[in-house]
Amino acid sequence: MDQYKNKIALVTGGSSGIGLAYAKYLIAHGWYVQIVSRNEERSNSAMHELGSANARNFLFDLTKEESIERLFEVALKPNLIIACAGVAINGKAQSYSKKDKQESYYLMCGGVIDMIQLYLPHLDKNNGRAVIISSIGAITPMPKSSIYASAKAAIHAYGRSVNKESKNVKVTVSLPGYVRTNAHKRSGLDHLEKKIPNWMWVSAEQVVIETEKASKKGLNDVVPGKVYKLTKPFLNSNLANRIWSKLSKRS
Ligand SMILES: NC(=O)c1ccc[n+]([C@@H]2O[C@H](COP(=O)([O-])OP(=O)(O)OC[C@H]3O[C@@H](n4cnc5c(N)ncnc54)[C@H](OP(=O)(O)O)[C@@H]3O)[C@@H](O)[C@H]2O)c1
Repeated sequence: MDQYKNKIALVTGGSSGIGLAYAKYLIAHGWYVQIVSRNEERSNSAMHELGSANARNFLFDLTKEESIERLFEVALKPNLIIACAGVAINGKAQSYSKKDKQESYYLMCGGVIDMIQLYLPHLDKNNGRAVIISSIGAITPMPKSSIYASAKAAIHAYGRSVNKESKNVKVTVSLPGYVRTNAHKRSGLDHLEKKIPNWMWVSAEQVVIETEKASKKGLNDVVPGKVYKLTKPFLNSNLANRIWSKLSKRS
């Protein structure tokens, strides 16, 4: 592992979509990458794409507190954490079960906080970085995705605050809009793939390039993609909200 000095990464959600694109990017830039996900078949297929010489996979259900603790025991201590694992959880506010709320909140917020806290002393000693993949939903209303949007908003607030705590550790929160990955199909939102116009989609690779750039600069957050960057200042206006809701209406 000596050849990877200061270039050991941990990518949660690295078996698919943005996490897999991030893992590929890091390997191409000389990193050793540890990916963490839950489904064995998808994890093995990702490993096949990544090549085992520069990568290793772990299977953990990150909705569980004990998974974070166990991961901390078995994985190499990273200089870069990409907290990307997540699911799109949908439904009207009154429809979520207690289990859905607790699990998705832990996966996309509480567990990310627990994980970063465990690794902070190591990151601090090694001038490390953490990247949190949140969502544009953290800063704009997402009807029928209120739990998802609120978990993403909470982790955004956490990340940008921790970023200001230490000179040695950089924490950057990425707020992507629509990215073509497996996420929508998995959560029964495949209709969005046809409904959302092409110009509203950003590629996973573009998200990674812009997020890495922002992370290296130590920025609090980044909104990947030109369209989203341009519209960010207007996201909370009534007109922008009406257009956004119409284009991305959940069925
Ligand atoms: N796609 C978008 O439009 C979009 C936009 C904004 C933000 N995001 C965020 O980007 C992140 C990545 O999403 P994606 O679009 O790349 O989706 P994706 O292709 O479905 O990938 C999700 C990843 O998270 C892992 N994961 C999900 N639940 C897990 C659990 N309980 N334990 C461990 N790993 C788990 C999956 O592993 P398994 O395969 O093992 O389930 C997979 O590796 C998410 O946090 C999402 O909220 C996505």
